[in-house]
Amino acid sequence: MAIIKFDQYLDVSKYWARHVDVNALTGRGEESSLTSVANQLIAEKLKIAADSVVVDVGCGGGHFLLSINNVARRIGILPLQEEVQMLSSFYENEKIEFLKGYSHSIPLPSGLADRIVINGVCLCLPDRESFVATATELARLAKPGCKLFLGEHPESDEFTGRQYDDSLVHFLLWSVKSRGIGYALRHAYRMLQALLGFSDYLIYPKRNYFTVRSEVAEIFAAAGWSLLWDADRCLPRTEAGSKQVMIRHDYLFERNTD
Ligand SMILES: C[S@@+](CC[C@H](N)C(=O)[O-])C[C@H]1O[C@@H](n2cnc3c(N)ncnc32)[C@H](O)[C@@H]1O
Repeated sequence: MAIIKFDQYLDVSKYWARHVDVNALTGRGEESSLTSVANQLIAEKLKIAADSVVVDVGCGGGHFLLSINNVARRIGILPLQEEVQMLSSFYENEKIEFLKGYSHSIPLPSGLADRIVINGVCLCLPDRESFVATATELARLAKPGCKLFLGEHPESDEFTGRQYDDSLVHFLLWSVKSRGIGYALRHAYRMLQALLGFSDYLIYPKRNYFTVRSEVAEIFAAAGWSLLWDADRCLPRTEAGSKQVMIRHDYLFERNTD
């Protein structure tokens, strides 16, 4: 039990997989109800037929795959062996396959998928090059006419204005100014609990990969996808008792027939 600082999102996932917390693997913290709202939207947009092969890339806690139980094949791709092991044993009575892979390198044959989901994943990518490689790899995996839901992608750096680095004192001062005294006190309490050895206090990476909408459409068009729909998604969040609203963007693409 300690204060733990993460520089990489993959290390955060490794931590939660070891602590067997499927809700934390969604990255939505205290707002687990947001996961079912997100899953309903994804299912509504993808219109999944019973004979579909569905691949969820970066499937987090596996909640979306669990929610669509009447399909031919459900496959979750996760970058860490720890996550694959944890979800395979957590869902051992479900017919869901979990495989280790990355959005730019998926261990499945070309032209397999009827539906692909990649939700809240591309913000973890290191750079534009990986995003381009992801668009190309998803196109390889897709059958012609396959629908792809790319969700919760930021259009801006969500950490702008947070100049507290990894200093807990600077973080608390920033919290008082921008979130209020109640929020700062609740974080201070959690930090104290970690220092006394009762729980862990996690310091998350302070960067996210972001792309403006026109560039997302361009990159995916170049990889063989047509944009069918896109919209802002409002993500209300509760963190240490404080309500915040974050806007990210969703896209629905269709794989072109070559
Ligand atoms: C914020 S969670 C979102 C989980 C889930 N898609 C959802 O919407 O609830 C990010 C997920 O992406 C995975 N991930 C991170 N980098 C990845 C990459 N390069 N390729 C595939 N998955 C990745 C993480 O392991 C985690 O499962």
